[in-house]
Amino acid sequence: MDETRLIGTGEGGLPWRGMTRDKKHFSDYTADKALLLGRRTFEEMLGWLDNDHRPIVLTRNRAYDPGRGRQVAVNIEEALTLAGSRGEKEVVVCGGAAIYRLALPFADRLVLTLLHGRFDTAVPGVYFPGWEDANFREVKRERFTADAENPLSMTFLYLAR
Ligand SMILES: NC(=O)c1ccc[n+]([C@@H]2O[C@H](COP(=O)([O-])OP(=O)(O)OC[C@H]3O[C@@H](n4cnc5c(N)ncnc54)[C@H](OP(=O)(O)O)[C@@H]3O)[C@@H](O)[C@H]2O)c1
Repeated sequence: MDETRLIGTGEGGLPWRGMTRDKKHFSDYTADKALLLGRRTFEEMLGWLDNDHRPIVLTRNRAYDPGRGRQVAVNIEEALTLAGSRGEKEVVVCGGAAIYRLALPFADRLVLTLLHGRFDTAVPGVYFPGWEDANFREVKRERFTADAENPLSMTFLYLAR
């Protein structure tokens, strides 16, 4: 997210380009884990998901077919029950905005990338929910300066309940 908590353009896609360090962080953290994704984010990320990811797609359309035997859930509680029945140790919520908002009350940990800058969007963008009042404490913070592949400096922030 940027300094205003912006995470998406409002027209689909991220507001920024590059940020290779964040992409690698995301890949490393999510490797071999269950992911919970809104249907729109799932469709955007289809090309990026590999066989080790076990996505659960949140949709109001129970008939939605995410392909390759992947599963859908129609609300957060159902997604978590499904993950539990599969024996998943961790479910990584990967957005978008609606899903972050719904899942925040259930989250034990937040792993956030804070981009130190602000982006403009042509139409109203989508935002990560505020977490400041949700009783998380900081566990770790790593700050990185901008470089050729990362147009902005950024912080990886780890919080726990
Ligand atoms: N920067 C980041 O970290 C990050 C991460 C992820 C996404 N994004 C960006 O965020 C944007 C997409 O986010 P978004 O908020 O527009 O869409 P989204 O959360 O990815 O997906 C929205 C869809 O989720 C389903 N849904 C939403 N609320 C639901 C509920 N209460 N119960 C059941 N299903 C529900 C609906 O699917 P159906 O329509 O099928 O019913 C809805 O259309 C894109 O721009 C993407 O690039 C950014």
